[in-house]
Amino acid sequence: MSKELTIAVLPGDGIGPEVIEQAIKVLDGVSDKYGHNFIYRKSLVGAAAIDQTGEPLPPDTLENCMTADAVLLGSIGDHRFEDPTLSVRPEQGLLALRKSLDIYTNIRPVKAYDRLLGLSPLKDNLIKNVDFTIFRELTGGIYFGQHGRKEEGKFAYDICSYYNHEIERIAKLAFEEARKRKNYVCLVDKANVLESSRLWRETVQQLHKETYSDVRFDALYIDHAAMQLITNPLRFDVILTSNMFGDIISDEGSVIAGSLGLLPSASIGDTHCLFEPVHGSYPEAAGKDIANPIASILSVSMLLEHFDMNEEAKSIQQAVEYCMAKSILTEDCNPDVDYTCSQLGDVIQALVAEEEGINTKGLKEGSSSII
Ligand code: NAD
Ligand code: IPM
Ligand code: MN
Repeated sequence: MSKELTIAVLPGDGIGPEVIEQAIKVLDGVSDKYGHNFIYRKSLVGAAAIDQTGEPLPPDTLENCMTADAVLLGSIGDHRFEDPTLSVRPEQGLLALRKSLDIYTNIRPVKAYDRLLGLSPLKDNLIKNVDFTIFRELTGGIYFGQHGRKEEGKFAYDICSYYNHEIERIAKLAFEEARKRKNYVCLVDKANVLESSRLWRETVQQLHKETYSDVRFDALYIDHAAMQLITNPLRFDVILTSNMFGDIISDEGSVIAGSLGLLPSASIGDTHCLFEPVHGSYPEAAGKDIANPIASILSVSMLLEHFDMNEEAKSIQQAVEYCMAKSILTEDCNPDVDYTCSQLGDVIQALVAEEEGINTKGLKEGSSSII
């Protein structure tokens, strides 16, 4: 059955516009093949929005996102805004958007692809078959507690605070996900030191006992978990954690996959959803057509899954794995035969649309049938 979706598209800064262009190509491939109608509504966010309007999240961008079925975001951030004394920064736009949409669960799957095992500095036997997912709380914690300065700017604070209901709602989703996977949730916290982490433990332990006792559950301190992630990543299935710990361990997880350019994410709330790569704006690569678009393309696959377009989502995953098998990859994944960001987008679009006579042989020379 053909579907119609309105998607707010926020390309953002740095490599954001390049990788989002590829993700849209792939969505177009899906709509061609399956007869869906995706309506794209573009808006500014981050540094691009500050440049045009003075604000990182202009009201019409927020309105666009609030009224769309889904949001597709590239990345925000720009070296020009790194001065710590500035009061307006691109990152504020992303944080305000997440908070306004109340997308409290950020899902970040991490996989070791057989074809890419050699990319990771970790030994093949440690990472082969790794397949876990991080459930990162996204709208609370130290990111959204009180921040400020006192004593003429000589004293700064960022408060990490959580309500039990904020913990419970993401924990439920993590346990539900575990039931569909390997039935195991590992809570990652710092309950030996932090009161907010002790509330996480208490709340999740109780929920486990009352509702999810069929799911295997344990907890690790974040320092220990960071070590286990690279010494024994096969032990994980669903990792449940707070905002900042989740941010940090997801980039660590990318070392298992082989590149930060491979990790997608979905951010889900009760009424809104947003899809974005885990990586940032990688300003050094902006405009060079070298960034890996796979993280954004797989984020689109998560979007389709969210709307029950499972066959469509699968076709994207299969196209990505085909490219891995054929070494049709950007330079971060294949320094010998590097394809450009847009070439990879073209190939994946063509594979998804199952265009006749795909011939990727002459791709580098520009003589293939798809570019
Ligand atoms: P980054 O994720 O932009 O880049 C870190 C490194 O990861 C790069 O040097 C590169 O080696 C690799 N990388 C990232 N994306 C890649 C891709 N698509 N293909 C190939 N390699 C890729 O992190 P950073 O350099 O710490 O931050 C740059 C800016 O991005 C900052 O302004 C930061 O605030 C912002 N940021 C935004 C988001 C977001 O929009 N969600 C996420 C992280 C960082
Ligand atoms: C991410 C990023 C953001 C975060 C920044 C840019 C605000 O690092 O999405 O992982 O810390 O959440
Ligand atoms: Mn991050």
